[in-house]
Amino acid sequence: MHGLTNETELLARQVLELVLARQRQDPWPLGGTATAEELTKRVGPTITPAGLGGSEALRRWVEELAPATVAADHPRYLAFIPHAPTEVAVLFDLLVSASGIYAGSWLEAAGAVHAENEALHWLASLAGFPADAGGAFVPGGTLGNLSALHAARQTALTRRGGVRPARWQIATSAEAHSSIAQAARVLDVDLIDVPVDASHRLTGARLIDALDAHTDDAVFAVVASAGATNLGVIDDLATVAAVCRERDLWLHVDGAYGLAALAAPRMRPAFAGVELADSFIVDPHKWLFAPYDSCALLYRDPQQARAAHSQSAAYLDTLNARNEWNPADYAVHLSRRARGLPFWFSLAVHGTDAYAEAIETTLAVTRQVAEDIRARPYLELLIEPELSVLVFRRQGWAAEDYDSWSARLFATGTAFAMPTRVRGEPAARIVILNPRTPVADIAMVLDTMS
Ligand SMILES: Cc1ncc(COP(=O)(O)O)c(C=O)c1O
Repeated sequence: MHGLTNETELLARQVLELVLARQRQDPWPLGGTATAEELTKRVGPTITPAGLGGSEALRRWVEELAPATVAADHPRYLAFIPHAPTEVAVLFDLLVSASGIYAGSWLEAAGAVHAENEALHWLASLAGFPADAGGAFVPGGTLGNLSALHAARQTALTRRGGVRPARWQIATSAEAHSSIAQAARVLDVDLIDVPVDASHRLTGARLIDALDAHTDDAVFAVVASAGATNLGVIDDLATVAAVCRERDLWLHVDGAYGLAALAAPRMRPAFAGVELADSFIVDPHKWLFAPYDSCALLYRDPQQARAAHSQSAAYLDTLNARNEWNPADYAVHLSRRARGLPFWFSLAVHGTDAYAEAIETTLAVTRQVAEDIRARPYLELLIEPELSVLVFRRQGWAAEDYDSWSARLFATGTAFAMPTRVRGEPAARIVILNPRTPVADIAMVLDTMS
Protein backbone atom coordinates (compact mmCIF):
# COMPACT_ATOMS: atom_id res chain seq x y z
CA MET A 1 0.00 0.00 0.00
CA HIS A 2 2.80 2.40 0.83
CA GLY A 3 5.37 3.62 -1.64
CA LEU A 4 5.14 5.84 -4.66
CA THR A 5 4.48 3.58 -7.65
CA ASN A 6 4.08 4.76 -11.23
CA GLU A 7 0.36 4.25 -10.82
CA THR A 8 0.33 6.47 -7.73
CA GLU A 9 2.26 9.19 -9.56
CA LEU A 10 -0.30 9.08 -12.35
CA LEU A 11 -3.02 9.35 -9.74
CA ALA A 12 -1.26 12.36 -8.20
CA ARG A 13 -1.32 14.13 -11.57
CA GLN A 14 -4.99 13.26 -12.08
CA VAL A 15 -5.91 14.54 -8.62
CA LEU A 16 -4.01 17.78 -9.13
CA GLU A 17 -5.55 18.24 -12.57
CA LEU A 18 -9.02 17.77 -11.07
CA VAL A 19 -8.28 20.41 -8.45
CA LEU A 20 -7.05 22.82 -11.12
CA ALA A 21 -9.97 22.04 -13.44
CA ARG A 22 -12.32 22.91 -10.62
CA GLN A 23 -10.47 26.15 -9.99
CA ARG A 24 -10.44 27.06 -13.72
CA GLN A 25 -14.14 26.48 -14.21
CA ASP A 26 -15.90 29.52 -12.82
CA PRO A 27 -18.39 28.65 -11.55
CA TRP A 28 -18.09 24.95 -10.95
CA PRO A 29 -21.56 23.27 -11.07
CA LEU A 30 -23.66 23.72 -7.94
CA GLY A 31 -23.96 19.95 -7.52
CA GLY A 32 -26.79 17.95 -6.04
CA THR A 33 -27.78 15.21 -3.67
CA ALA A 34 -29.06 11.62 -3.78
CA THR A 35 -30.51 9.00 -1.48
CA ALA A 36 -28.34 6.23 -0.03
CA GLU A 37 -30.25 3.70 -2.16
CA GLU A 38 -29.58 5.64 -5.37
CA LEU A 39 -25.90 5.93 -4.54
CA THR A 40 -25.56 2.25 -3.66
CA LYS A 41 -27.13 1.39 -7.00
CA ARG A 42 -25.00 3.84 -8.97
CA VAL A 43 -21.64 3.28 -7.28
CA GLY A 44 -21.79 -0.35 -6.25
CA PRO A 45 -19.60 -1.73 -3.47
CA THR A 46 -16.40 0.29 -3.07
CA ILE A 47 -14.76 -1.55 -0.18
CA THR A 48 -13.54 -4.88 -1.52
CA PRO A 49 -10.87 -7.37 -0.44
CA ALA A 50 -8.72 -6.73 -3.52
CA GLY A 51 -9.28 -2.97 -3.78
CA LEU A 52 -10.59 -1.11 -6.84
CA GLY A 53 -7.26 0.37 -7.86
CA GLY A 54 -6.60 4.11 -8.05
CA SER A 55 -8.16 4.96 -11.38
CA GLU A 56 -11.39 3.05 -10.75
CA ALA A 57 -11.82 4.42 -7.22
CA LEU A 58 -11.19 7.92 -8.56
CA ARG A 59 -13.64 7.38 -11.41
CA ARG A 60 -16.37 6.36 -9.01
CA TRP A 61 -15.69 9.49 -6.95
CA VAL A 62 -15.64 11.85 -9.94
CA GLU A 63 -18.54 10.36 -11.88
CA GLU A 64 -20.89 9.08 -9.18
CA LEU A 65 -20.15 10.44 -5.72
CA ALA A 66 -18.87 13.99 -6.23
CA PRO A 67 -21.98 15.03 -8.24
CA ALA A 68 -24.02 14.12 -5.15
CA THR A 69 -22.33 16.88 -3.16
CA VAL A 70 -23.13 20.58 -3.11
CA ALA A 71 -20.43 23.15 -3.86
CA ALA A 72 -20.67 25.43 -0.83
CA ASP A 73 -18.27 27.77 -2.62
CA HIS A 74 -20.59 28.22 -5.60
CA PRO A 75 -21.46 31.91 -6.09
CA ARG A 76 -25.14 31.06 -5.80
CA TYR A 77 -24.78 28.93 -2.67
CA LEU A 78 -26.71 31.38 -0.51
CA ALA A 79 -27.97 29.10 2.27
CA PHE A 80 -26.82 28.55 5.86
CA ILE A 81 -23.33 30.10 5.95
CA PRO A 82 -21.55 29.77 2.58
CA HIS A 83 -17.89 29.06 1.93
CA ALA A 84 -15.40 30.76 -0.38
CA PRO A 85 -11.82 29.55 0.02
CA THR A 86 -9.12 31.21 -2.06
CA GLU A 87 -7.35 29.04 -4.62
CA VAL A 88 -4.05 29.30 -2.77
CA ALA A 89 -5.63 28.28 0.54
CA VAL A 90 -7.03 25.14 -1.09
CA LEU A 91 -3.74 24.26 -2.76
CA PHE A 92 -1.82 24.75 0.46
CA ASP A 93 -4.31 22.49 2.22
CA LEU A 94 -3.15 19.69 -0.10
CA LEU A 95 0.42 20.35 1.00
CA VAL A 96 -0.58 20.34 4.68
CA SER A 97 -2.16 16.91 4.13
CA ALA A 98 1.00 15.67 2.48
CA SER A 99 3.32 17.02 5.17
CA GLY A 100 2.66 14.57 8.00
CA ILE A 101 2.57 17.27 10.67
CA TYR A 102 1.24 16.49 14.13
CA ALA A 103 0.24 20.01 15.13
CA GLY A 104 -0.68 19.37 18.76
CA SER A 105 2.73 20.28 20.12
CA TRP A 106 5.40 22.90 19.53
CA LEU A 107 8.11 20.26 19.68
CA GLU A 108 6.71 18.43 16.68
CA ALA A 109 5.33 21.33 14.67
CA ALA A 110 7.18 24.54 15.67
CA GLY A 111 7.14 26.00 12.15
CA ALA A 112 3.48 25.19 11.60
CA VAL A 113 2.39 26.40 15.04
CA HIS A 114 4.40 29.61 14.63
CA ALA A 115 2.61 30.32 11.35
CA GLU A 116 -0.79 29.45 12.84
CA ASN A 117 -0.02 31.74 15.77
CA GLU A 118 0.80 34.60 13.38
CA ALA A 119 -2.68 34.24 11.91
CA LEU A 120 -4.25 33.96 15.39
CA HIS A 121 -2.40 37.06 16.58
CA TRP A 122 -3.62 39.02 13.57
CA LEU A 123 -7.20 38.12 14.50
CA ALA A 124 -6.55 38.91 18.18
CA SER A 125 -5.11 42.31 17.27
CA LEU A 126 -8.13 43.11 15.06
CA ALA A 127 -10.32 42.41 18.08
CA GLY A 128 -8.16 44.63 20.33
CA PHE A 129 -7.00 41.71 22.48
CA PRO A 130 -3.72 42.08 24.42
CA ALA A 131 -0.47 41.00 22.77
CA ASP A 132 -0.22 37.88 24.95
CA ALA A 133 -3.66 36.62 23.90
CA GLY A 134 -3.62 33.27 22.15
CA GLY A 135 -5.48 30.10 21.37
CA ALA A 136 -5.71 27.44 18.73
CA PHE A 137 -7.46 26.45 15.55
CA VAL A 138 -10.16 23.84 16.09
CA PRO A 139 -12.42 22.11 13.53
CA GLY A 140 -15.39 24.43 13.81
CA GLY A 141 -17.36 26.99 15.74
CA THR A 142 -19.18 24.28 17.65
CA LEU A 143 -15.99 22.93 19.16
CA GLY A 144 -14.62 26.45 19.62
CA ASN A 145 -17.67 27.50 21.63
CA LEU A 146 -17.57 24.33 23.72
CA SER A 147 -13.86 24.71 24.45
CA ALA A 148 -14.21 28.37 25.45
CA LEU A 149 -17.13 27.60 27.74
CA HIS A 150 -15.29 24.74 29.41
CA ALA A 151 -12.38 27.13 30.11
CA ALA A 152 -14.88 29.67 31.45
CA ARG A 153 -16.40 27.19 33.87
CA GLN A 154 -13.04 25.92 35.11
CA THR A 155 -11.95 29.51 35.70
CA ALA A 156 -15.13 30.23 37.65
CA LEU A 157 -14.66 27.06 39.70
CA THR A 158 -11.10 28.04 40.59
CA ARG A 159 -12.19 31.56 41.54
CA ARG A 160 -14.85 30.08 43.80
CA GLY A 161 -12.33 27.91 45.56
CA GLY A 162 -13.76 24.73 44.02
CA VAL A 163 -17.29 25.35 45.32
CA ARG A 164 -19.96 24.47 42.73
CA PRO A 165 -23.51 25.84 42.62
CA ALA A 166 -26.37 23.33 42.40
CA ARG A 167 -26.52 23.91 38.60
CA TRP A 168 -24.09 26.07 36.62
CA GLN A 169 -25.67 28.50 34.15
CA ILE A 170 -24.77 30.32 30.94
CA ALA A 171 -26.68 33.47 29.96
CA THR A 172 -27.37 34.08 26.27
CA SER A 173 -30.19 35.06 23.94
CA ALA A 174 -32.43 32.88 21.80
CA GLU A 175 -30.58 34.26 18.74
CA ALA A 176 -27.35 32.52 19.84
CA HIS A 177 -26.22 29.69 17.58
CA SER A 178 -27.56 26.20 18.33
CA SER A 179 -24.01 25.13 19.24
CA ILE A 180 -24.28 27.13 22.47
CA ALA A 181 -27.25 25.02 23.57
CA GLN A 182 -25.30 21.94 22.50
CA ALA A 183 -22.27 23.05 24.55
CA ALA A 184 -24.59 23.54 27.54
CA ARG A 185 -25.86 19.99 27.10
CA VAL A 186 -22.34 18.58 26.86
CA LEU A 187 -21.20 20.55 29.91
CA ASP A 188 -24.47 19.64 31.67
CA VAL A 189 -25.26 23.25 32.55
CA ASP A 190 -28.45 25.30 32.16
CA LEU A 191 -29.06 28.15 29.76
CA ILE A 192 -30.64 31.40 30.89
CA ASP A 193 -32.54 32.93 28.01
CA VAL A 194 -31.99 36.68 27.92
CA PRO A 195 -34.77 38.36 25.91
CA VAL A 196 -33.49 40.38 22.94
CA ASP A 197 -34.42 44.00 22.18
CA ALA A 198 -36.56 45.14 19.24
CA SER A 199 -33.51 44.77 16.94
CA HIS A 200 -33.01 41.12 18.01
CA ARG A 201 -29.91 42.09 20.04
CA LEU A 202 -28.67 41.04 23.43
CA THR A 203 -28.03 44.25 25.41
CA GLY A 204 -26.45 45.08 28.76
CA ALA A 205 -29.77 46.30 30.18
CA ARG A 206 -31.56 43.08 29.20
CA LEU A 207 -28.69 41.06 30.61
CA ILE A 208 -28.88 42.85 33.98
CA ASP A 209 -32.61 42.11 34.21
CA ALA A 210 -32.06 38.43 33.43
CA LEU A 211 -29.16 38.09 35.86
CA ASP A 212 -31.09 39.85 38.61
CA ALA A 213 -33.97 37.45 38.12
CA HIS A 214 -31.60 34.56 38.90
CA THR A 215 -30.24 35.15 42.36
CA ASP A 216 -28.55 31.79 42.82
CA ASP A 217 -25.15 33.14 41.65
CA ALA A 218 -24.68 30.21 39.30
CA VAL A 219 -23.94 32.03 36.02
CA PHE A 220 -20.34 31.51 34.94
CA ALA A 221 -20.45 32.88 31.39
CA VAL A 222 -22.34 35.13 29.05
CA VAL A 223 -22.35 34.36 25.32
CA ALA A 224 -22.87 37.25 22.92
CA SER A 225 -23.15 36.84 19.15
CA ALA A 226 -21.14 38.97 16.76
CA GLY A 227 -23.21 38.10 13.76
CA ALA A 228 -25.99 35.78 14.91
CA THR A 229 -26.44 33.15 12.23
CA ASN A 230 -30.11 33.47 11.42
CA LEU A 231 -30.37 37.24 11.06
CA GLY A 232 -26.76 38.42 11.02
CA VAL A 233 -27.37 40.73 13.98
CA ILE A 234 -24.47 41.87 16.18
CA ASP A 235 -25.27 41.98 19.90
CA ASP A 236 -24.57 45.19 21.82
CA LEU A 237 -21.13 43.96 22.82
CA ALA A 238 -20.06 47.14 24.64
CA THR A 239 -22.94 47.19 27.14
CA VAL A 240 -22.88 43.41 27.55
CA ALA A 241 -19.12 43.52 28.21
CA ALA A 242 -19.58 46.30 30.79
CA VAL A 243 -22.05 44.14 32.72
CA CYS A 244 -19.74 41.12 32.54
CA ARG A 245 -16.82 43.19 33.85
CA GLU A 246 -18.89 44.60 36.68
CA ARG A 247 -20.17 41.15 37.72
CA ASP A 248 -16.97 39.28 37.08
CA LEU A 249 -18.51 37.00 34.44
CA TRP A 250 -16.63 35.42 31.54
CA LEU A 251 -17.75 36.95 28.25
CA HIS A 252 -17.48 34.69 25.22
CA VAL A 253 -18.20 36.26 21.84
CA ASP A 254 -19.38 33.86 19.16
CA GLY A 255 -18.22 35.51 15.97
CA ALA A 256 -17.94 32.29 13.97
CA TYR A 257 -19.49 34.03 10.98
CA GLY A 258 -19.51 37.76 11.68
CA LEU A 259 -16.22 38.63 13.37
CA ALA A 260 -14.48 38.14 10.02
CA ALA A 261 -15.81 41.60 9.19
CA LEU A 262 -13.24 43.01 11.66
CA ALA A 263 -10.86 42.67 8.70
CA ALA A 264 -12.70 45.58 7.07
CA PRO A 265 -11.65 48.71 9.03
CA ARG A 266 -14.98 50.45 8.34
CA MET A 267 -16.82 47.67 10.19
CA ARG A 268 -14.80 47.75 13.41
CA PRO A 269 -17.06 50.17 15.33
CA ALA A 270 -19.92 47.65 14.94
CA PHE A 271 -17.95 45.27 17.16
CA ALA A 272 -17.00 47.80 19.87
CA GLY A 273 -16.74 45.90 23.16
CA VAL A 274 -15.26 42.70 21.70
CA GLU A 275 -11.90 43.86 23.05
CA LEU A 276 -13.30 43.31 26.58
CA ALA A 277 -14.29 39.68 25.97
CA ASP A 278 -12.48 36.78 27.65
CA SER A 279 -12.68 34.63 24.54
CA PHE A 280 -14.01 34.74 21.01
CA ILE A 281 -14.21 32.54 17.95
CA VAL A 282 -14.19 33.24 14.24
CA ASP A 283 -14.26 30.55 11.54
CA PRO A 284 -11.82 31.04 8.64
CA HIS A 285 -13.87 28.43 6.75
CA LYS A 286 -16.71 30.94 6.68
CA TRP A 287 -15.94 34.56 5.74
CA LEU A 288 -12.14 34.39 5.90
CA PHE A 289 -11.78 32.36 2.72
CA ALA A 290 -10.15 29.17 4.02
CA PRO A 291 -11.19 25.59 3.26
CA TYR A 292 -13.07 23.43 5.76
CA ASP A 293 -12.47 22.97 8.55
CA SER A 294 -11.08 25.76 10.64
CA CYS A 295 -12.19 27.83 13.63
CA ALA A 296 -9.89 30.31 15.35
CA LEU A 297 -10.42 30.21 19.12
CA LEU A 298 -8.80 33.08 21.04
CA TYR A 299 -8.46 33.66 24.78
CA ARG A 300 -7.58 36.94 26.47
CA ASP A 301 -5.62 34.93 29.06
CA PRO A 302 -4.47 31.66 27.49
CA GLN A 303 -3.19 30.43 30.85
CA GLN A 304 -6.78 30.02 32.02
CA ALA A 305 -7.53 27.90 28.97
CA ARG A 306 -4.40 25.86 29.47
CA ALA A 307 -5.35 25.12 33.06
CA ALA A 308 -8.71 23.87 31.83
CA HIS A 309 -7.66 21.91 28.76
CA SER A 310 -4.14 20.57 29.19
CA GLN A 311 -4.14 16.76 29.25
CA SER A 312 -1.76 14.90 31.48
CA ALA A 313 -0.57 11.32 31.03
CA ALA A 314 2.64 9.46 31.62
CA TYR A 315 3.46 9.49 27.91
CA LEU A 316 2.78 13.26 27.67
CA ASP A 317 4.75 14.36 30.75
CA THR A 318 7.99 15.04 28.89
CA LEU A 319 6.13 17.16 26.36
CA ASN A 320 4.31 19.13 29.06
CA ALA A 321 7.51 19.67 31.03
CA ARG A 322 8.99 21.62 28.11
CA ASN A 323 6.54 24.42 28.82
CA GLU A 324 6.20 25.35 25.16
CA TRP A 325 3.16 26.60 23.24
CA ASN A 326 1.24 23.40 22.55
CA PRO A 327 -2.02 24.02 20.64
CA ALA A 328 -3.39 20.82 22.18
CA ASP A 329 -3.56 22.70 25.52
CA TYR A 330 -6.21 25.20 24.44
CA ALA A 331 -9.27 23.20 23.38
CA VAL A 332 -11.06 19.87 23.59
CA HIS A 333 -8.60 18.01 21.37
CA LEU A 334 -5.15 16.44 21.35
CA SER A 335 -4.01 15.15 17.94
CA ARG A 336 -4.71 17.85 15.42
CA ARG A 337 -4.17 18.76 11.82
CA ALA A 338 -2.48 22.16 11.31
CA ARG A 339 -5.83 23.43 10.13
CA GLY A 340 -4.92 27.08 10.52
CA LEU A 341 -2.21 26.82 7.87
CA PRO A 342 -4.31 27.19 4.69
CA PHE A 343 -5.74 30.40 6.20
CA TRP A 344 -2.26 31.59 7.20
CA PHE A 345 -0.89 30.87 3.73
CA SER A 346 -3.66 32.74 1.96
CA LEU A 347 -3.17 35.71 4.32
CA ALA A 348 0.58 35.61 3.75
CA VAL A 349 0.16 35.43 -0.04
CA HIS A 350 -2.55 38.03 -0.50
CA GLY A 351 -2.02 40.37 2.46
CA THR A 352 -4.59 41.72 4.88
CA ASP A 353 -5.70 44.53 2.51
CA ALA A 354 -7.02 41.93 0.09
CA TYR A 355 -9.09 40.46 2.93
CA ALA A 356 -10.52 43.89 3.76
CA GLU A 357 -11.37 44.41 0.10
CA ALA A 358 -13.02 40.99 -0.33
CA ILE A 359 -15.20 41.54 2.73
CA GLU A 360 -16.10 45.07 1.58
CA THR A 361 -17.10 43.58 -1.79
CA THR A 362 -19.57 41.17 -0.19
CA LEU A 363 -20.94 43.93 2.04
CA ALA A 364 -21.45 46.20 -0.98
CA VAL A 365 -23.25 43.40 -2.85
CA THR A 366 -25.45 42.84 0.22
CA ARG A 367 -26.39 46.55 0.32
CA GLN A 368 -27.27 46.54 -3.38
CA VAL A 369 -29.37 43.41 -3.00
CA ALA A 370 -31.15 45.01 -0.02
CA GLU A 371 -32.00 47.95 -2.33
CA ASP A 372 -33.24 45.54 -4.98
CA ILE A 373 -35.48 43.76 -2.45
CA ARG A 374 -36.91 47.08 -1.28
CA ALA A 375 -37.63 48.03 -4.89
CA ARG A 376 -39.69 44.88 -5.56
CA PRO A 377 -43.32 45.36 -4.47
CA TYR A 378 -43.80 41.62 -3.84
CA LEU A 379 -40.90 41.45 -1.35
CA GLU A 380 -40.46 42.95 2.11
CA LEU A 381 -37.03 43.28 3.70
CA LEU A 382 -37.48 42.28 7.35
CA ILE A 383 -34.21 43.55 8.83
CA GLU A 384 -31.71 46.11 7.61
CA PRO A 385 -28.57 43.99 7.04
CA GLU A 386 -25.71 44.85 9.39
CA LEU A 387 -23.46 42.19 7.88
CA SER A 388 -24.31 40.02 4.88
CA VAL A 389 -27.50 38.17 5.85
CA LEU A 390 -30.73 39.19 4.09
CA VAL A 391 -34.09 38.04 5.42
CA PHE A 392 -37.22 39.00 3.57
CA ARG A 393 -40.80 38.02 3.04
CA ARG A 394 -42.65 37.24 -0.19
CA GLN A 395 -46.16 38.70 -0.06
CA GLY A 396 -48.79 36.00 0.32
CA TRP A 397 -46.40 33.09 0.77
CA ALA A 398 -46.81 30.44 3.46
CA ALA A 399 -44.05 28.13 4.72
CA GLU A 400 -44.77 25.55 1.95
CA ASP A 401 -44.26 28.21 -0.75
CA TYR A 402 -40.79 29.04 0.58
CA ASP A 403 -39.98 25.34 0.77
CA SER A 404 -41.03 24.64 -2.80
CA TRP A 405 -39.20 27.75 -4.06
CA SER A 406 -36.02 26.53 -2.34
CA ALA A 407 -36.49 22.98 -3.69
CA ARG A 408 -37.06 24.32 -7.24
CA LEU A 409 -33.91 26.44 -7.16
CA PHE A 410 -31.89 23.45 -6.03
CA ALA A 411 -33.43 20.91 -8.41
CA THR A 412 -32.71 23.16 -11.40
CA GLY A 413 -29.14 23.83 -10.28
CA THR A 414 -29.96 27.56 -10.14
CA ALA A 415 -29.09 28.32 -6.54
CA PHE A 416 -29.04 26.92 -3.01
CA ALA A 417 -31.14 29.03 -0.64
CA MET A 418 -33.05 27.93 2.46
CA PRO A 419 -36.05 29.54 4.10
CA THR A 420 -36.07 30.48 7.78
CA ARG A 421 -38.39 31.93 10.39
CA VAL A 422 -38.33 35.42 11.84
CA ARG A 423 -40.29 35.78 15.09
CA GLY A 424 -42.01 32.53 14.17
CA GLU A 425 -43.06 33.67 10.67
CA PRO A 426 -41.63 32.02 7.52
CA ALA A 427 -39.22 34.10 5.47
CA ALA A 428 -36.56 33.80 2.79
CA ARG A 429 -32.91 34.04 3.82
CA ILE A 430 -29.87 34.72 1.69
CA VAL A 431 -26.28 34.97 2.92
CA ILE A 432 -23.59 36.56 0.76
CA LEU A 433 -19.98 35.94 1.66
CA ASN A 434 -18.47 34.82 -1.61
CA PRO A 435 -16.79 37.80 -3.30
CA ARG A 436 -17.60 36.10 -6.61
CA THR A 437 -21.35 36.38 -6.05
CA PRO A 438 -22.56 39.10 -8.43
CA VAL A 439 -25.61 41.28 -7.73
CA ALA A 440 -27.10 40.07 -11.04
CA ASP A 441 -27.08 36.44 -9.86
CA ILE A 442 -29.11 37.33 -6.81
CA ALA A 443 -31.47 39.45 -8.89
CA MET A 444 -32.10 36.33 -10.96
CA VAL A 445 -32.91 34.39 -7.76
CA LEU A 446 -35.27 37.17 -6.63
CA ASP A 447 -36.97 37.06 -10.06
CA THR A 448 -37.95 33.46 -9.34
CA MET A 449 -40.12 34.73 -6.47
CA SER A 450 -42.20 37.13 -8.58
C1 LIG B 1 -22.55 32.17 14.88
C2 LIG B 1 -22.17 30.73 14.69
N1 LIG B 1 -21.64 30.06 15.72
C3 LIG B 1 -21.28 28.77 15.62
C4 LIG B 1 -21.45 28.08 14.44
C5 LIG B 1 -21.03 26.65 14.35
O1 LIG B 1 -19.89 26.60 13.57
P1 LIG B 1 -19.39 25.21 12.90
O2 LIG B 1 -20.45 24.88 11.89
O3 LIG B 1 -18.10 25.62 12.27
O4 LIG B 1 -19.28 24.22 13.97
C6 LIG B 1 -22.02 28.74 13.34
C7 LIG B 1 -22.24 28.02 12.08
O5 LIG B 1 -22.85 28.48 11.17
C8 LIG B 1 -22.37 30.08 13.46
O6 LIG B 1 -22.90 30.78 12.45
